[in-house]
Amino acid sequence: MNIISDWTRQAKLGKQPSKVALQKHLNEVHHKNPGFTELIASNCKDKYGNTSYDLLLNLLDKEKNLNILDIACGSGYLLNLCYKRFGANFNLTGIDMSNSELELARKKLIHTNYKLHLGMAQDLSFLEDNSFDAILCHWALTLMDPIIPVFKNINSLLKNRGFFAAIIDGDISTVPEYQKVHNIIYKYVQKEHPNYGFIELGDIRVRNSKGLKKLALKTFPDSDITITKHILYFSDYPKSLAREVARFFYASFVLSVKEHNKMIKELEKYFSSKLNKGQGCYIMPVNFICIKKNK
Ligand SMILES: C[S@@+](CC[C@H](N)C(=O)[O-])C[C@H]1O[C@@H](n2cnc3c(N)ncnc32)[C@H](O)[C@@H]1O
Repeated sequence: MNIISDWTRQAKLGKQPSKVALQKHLNEVHHKNPGFTELIASNCKDKYGNTSYDLLLNLLDKEKNLNILDIACGSGYLLNLCYKRFGANFNLTGIDMSNSELELARKKLIHTNYKLHLGMAQDLSFLEDNSFDAILCHWALTLMDPIIPVFKNINSLLKNRGFFAAIIDGDISTVPEYQKVHNIIYKYVQKEHPNYGFIELGDIRVRNSKGLKKLALKTFPDSDITITKHILYFSDYPKSLAREVARFFYASFVLSVKEHNKMIKELEKYFSSKLNKGQGCYIMPVNFICIKKNK
């Protein structure tokens, strides 16, 4: 926590932070907290027991989807799960801009056939066009600015009939319990960083299904685009749930220790207010976009 960067300083002045400031800020968050996404995302499940990683992998066909690219693969959780589920048939490639995350991925994937690249999703010229059957992205599109070059790269890298699938934040207002948690976290963050929330990491158009669809239609004209909403649940004892959930919000990383502790206490109180067998429950909406290339 307490990550003060050029991004937070520029946002505090009410300016849209520069792309360089965004990249440095994200790199610092991930350098100090590598692997934090998988810790919570692997515990959040829909009513059928699927995590958001499973939702992506459920689309893969062992016979057809041989070349897989994970954009912003982070600590390699999805690629490793893909290997565990489908064996060594697939060629797995991951790219991420954080070396600290890739270090974890390299350790995890040591026994598999993989290629990992340090790089930005906006510049994937080192990968071959029309070479991937499936491109996946778990929880990272909303951090990317500019986003259009990322979509264009995906379109070029996909083979005909290939597909792109991504998990992104759901629409906040669709789940009141999620909105409550979101509002607690942002209340503390906005005390110290009043513009956080009005200015966000990444391109805000990707943060809701309408904006996302509009952008996707522009960049993938010859494709079938579907966006579906899913709800994920994570139950745990309120004290640990409060800490785990807070880490899932990038906003919480900029808080001072003092405000962070107060926020954790309030989250704990909130999760304690509705217990089931002593455990509280975090409920989170996600959007799942799938783009199938027709030509
Ligand atoms: C929330 S984490 C998700 C990591 C991984 N996909 C997972 O779900 O376990 C977001 C990841 O996106 C990466 N990232 C953000 N913007 C990026 C960009 N423009 N190019 C490449 N990686 C990026 C970060 O370094 C981080 O590893």
